[in-house]
Amino acid sequence: MPVCIEVSRELAETVLRELRKQGLLDDLHLVQRRDSSVLIPVKENPGSQVRIGEYIFTAVECSVPEKKKTSVKLPSLDVIGDVVIIRENVLGLWDTSELINAIRQVYPRVKSIWIKELTVDEYRKPVLRLLWGEEKREVVAKEHGLQFKVKLGEVYFNPRLSEEHHRLAEATKSGEVVVDAFTGIGGFAIHIASLKTSLVIANDANPVAYKLLVENIELNKKKLKGTVIPLNMDARELPFILREGLADRVIADLPMWSTEFADVYNKLLKPGGILHLYRLSRDEYLLLEELENAFSNWEILECRIVMEYAPRTGIFRCDLVKSKHV
Ligand SMILES: C[S@@+](CC[C@H](N)C(=O)[O-])C[C@H]1O[C@@H](n2cnc3c(N)ncnc32)[C@H](O)[C@@H]1O
Repeated sequence: MPVCIEVSRELAETVLRELRKQGLLDDLHLVQRRDSSVLIPVKENPGSQVRIGEYIFTAVECSVPEKKKTSVKLPSLDVIGDVVIIRENVLGLWDTSELINAIRQVYPRVKSIWIKELTVDEYRKPVLRLLWGEEKREVVAKEHGLQFKVKLGEVYFNPRLSEEHHRLAEATKSGEVVVDAFTGIGGFAIHIASLKTSLVIANDANPVAYKLLVENIELNKKKLKGTVIPLNMDARELPFILREGLADRVIADLPMWSTEFADVYNKLLKPGGILHLYRLSRDEYLLLEELENAFSNWEILECRIVMEYAPRTGIFRCDLVKSKHV
């Protein structure tokens, strides 16, 4: 008989992630929803106590169903709410109806499958083509218990940034002033305000992203400890409306062009402030060379790869400190 812990719905995502990390999740059985709680199968004996952060759960025998054994192998894809997005190049490698069936078998609740053909213009919007299902473009993505409304095709959104959003929120200190200069629909900003009592100025030039940012602040407002101020302008204009040296931290997630805004970051940050700069590069050494030129007075703490972008090209995050002597 499987063994489960019972957790409230609000905690379920966090607990699942922790169990997975600790290797305690029983992945031969299905997680089962009840009215206001969720039964999560675990690799424990009945009566054992499972500690997740400040919570302790007791494992009990349960009757959750066994997972169907499937040998379906899927290409790399993104799941956003009940929508699946696959890359154009995958189509050449698969028979289309086999691909659709395989996706639907693994994700039985999926409502539409889209092909991402390319990413366009300065708003980094994906061009999508419907492969199967409903023409559904409004979806709600979940990240660490937060909700993000997305309009597919009209704004940039990448579910693979979820952990990065959380990592930066953990790195931010309570009380700091943060400028998220290219916030999209608010990923970094809302994560930070959910964990820390910070003031986050969240800006994006895309008017649709701005509208969603405002909606996402409202959607998550009960979970926010800090304050998010939404702005809709070209980041080059920020120094005209924000006090010089106001920010303890600036997030610059515009990997194609982020180094072009060095002046803006310099004006916004206080001496000793931190810049998290996202940048596309083929390798770390080339990137360091580029940064030493663009940010000659700054201390470069480290660069680390955040995700693959294309074969032999990655998106890196570099952490830099503005000189204290200005
Ligand atoms: C890579 S996306 C940001 C993703 C976001 N940080 C996240 O975690 O989901 C870059 C964003 O920068 C915005 N953008 C592009 N040029 C801009 C500019 N000059 N000023 C402000 N925002 C800009 C785009 O609209 C886009 O939403």
